[in-house]
Amino acid sequence: MATYLIRHTPRLSGEVEVSTAKNAVLPILAAGLLTEDPLIIKEVPRITDVETLVSILRDCGAEVNRSGADLSICALQPQSPRNEERMRKLRASILILGPILARTGSACVGLPGGCAIGQRPIDLHLKGLQTLGAQVHPLGGMRQLSGRLTGARIYLDLPSVGATENLMMAASLARGSTTLENAAKEPEIVDLANCLNQMGARITGAGTGTVNIVGVERLHGAIYRPIPDRVEAGTLLCAAAITEGSVLVRGACAEHLRSLLFKLAETGVGIRETPAGIRLSGTAVSPFELRTLAYPGFPTDMQAPMTVVALRCHGASLLNETVFENRFMHVSELCRLGARIRVENNVALVEGGHPLRGGVVRSTDLRAGAAMMLAGMIASGETVLQDPAGHIERGYQDLPQKLRTLGAEIEQIEDCAGS
Ligand code: UD1
Repeated sequence: MATYLIRHTPRLSGEVEVSTAKNAVLPILAAGLLTEDPLIIKEVPRITDVETLVSILRDCGAEVNRSGADLSICALQPQSPRNEERMRKLRASILILGPILARTGSACVGLPGGCAIGQRPIDLHLKGLQTLGAQVHPLGGMRQLSGRLTGARIYLDLPSVGATENLMMAASLARGSTTLENAAKEPEIVDLANCLNQMGARITGAGTGTVNIVGVERLHGAIYRPIPDRVEAGTLLCAAAITEGSVLVRGACAEHLRSLLFKLAETGVGIRETPAGIRLSGTAVSPFELRTLAYPGFPTDMQAPMTVVALRCHGASLLNETVFENRFMHVSELCRLGARIRVENNVALVEGGHPLRGGVVRSTDLRAGAAMMLAGMIASGETVLQDPAGHIERGYQDLPQKLRTLGAEIEQIEDCAGS
């Protein structure tokens, strides 16, 4: 079990570099299955979600090699993965479905897992692929899909990030043109489209609600550097905002963080966008209200860290979670540290301005784990954060080390293998 010891941190200062985005790297890795040429991805973060997807890609017959910070993937003859168990470890494992089906005409995959923050069905992925001409057969806990794909008009009932990515990849090798309506607009969608276009795809409109994809006969290799991680950058900014910080998050892209930056500014901190990154100074004091939404709305992945910011503010803040149905698991852990939070109908009412005291808490999912690390920094004395599932290492490269660079006192006292 990974366990962290966190001591009270009155002030963070200095500079820290943001890593490449997990949520951009994972679909781009899956895109490597679309071509027989090597796809080289630059600056891939060392996180376990990447390791898990790499092992799934190898199980699909791809050769994946790391050279320093870069990964190369070469899929001469992709096939369906044999290990269903591995698929369950990672929600993003479903992103191999569209590429394998489009490339080979058939795919059989297990249902994906990931954080238990809601039901997280894959109906939109399957419905979209069906509209492109695939036949879908349930096979126990697996789904078997087959058929030659043909371009079509697809309307997504929800702007699902994963479904938009899967369908963009599948449609790139379909016969004819595809239009995705009500597509997700996240920066990671634009990044995947840019990478696919470098591989020879013909995608326009990514980043808007309507994405057009003209299918091509084959895609070729490319060298691609994904965007910086906006969630990691946002988490580091929140860490600064709760600790009277003066912190420069190098490489952070303000354009991708607009809703968070406005919200943080509302709390009274100073935000400065510079060519090098984003600088935050001051402490959050004014309470706020937010509602999580699809991009460009407020990101659900920043809701847990912002709950900790709300604890620092003087007065009542409201956080309304509308994207996932079970994303307040961190609240009961925060209450163990003395936080005053009530959750009703997916709204957290946070009574901020009361001191937290150190204690023993658990990381319940990826973003909640990072939020608990932040909470430990503002609690008095020492906090022990247990992360039995290794959530933090799944999605953040060196988060404790990065916070330590800024002056936090965080030690990992046990690793995932136990010690
Ligand atoms: C991605 C991100 C995740 C982020 C989420 C929302 C990756 C690897 N993960 O997850 O960090 O929190 O976007 O911004 O990029 N839904 C359905 N049917 C489907 C698909 C989704 O009902 O077939 C629902 C989900 O249950 C959820 C909502 O749509 O309530 C949004 O999910 P989606 O955008 O698909 O999230 P992911 O791609 O899984």
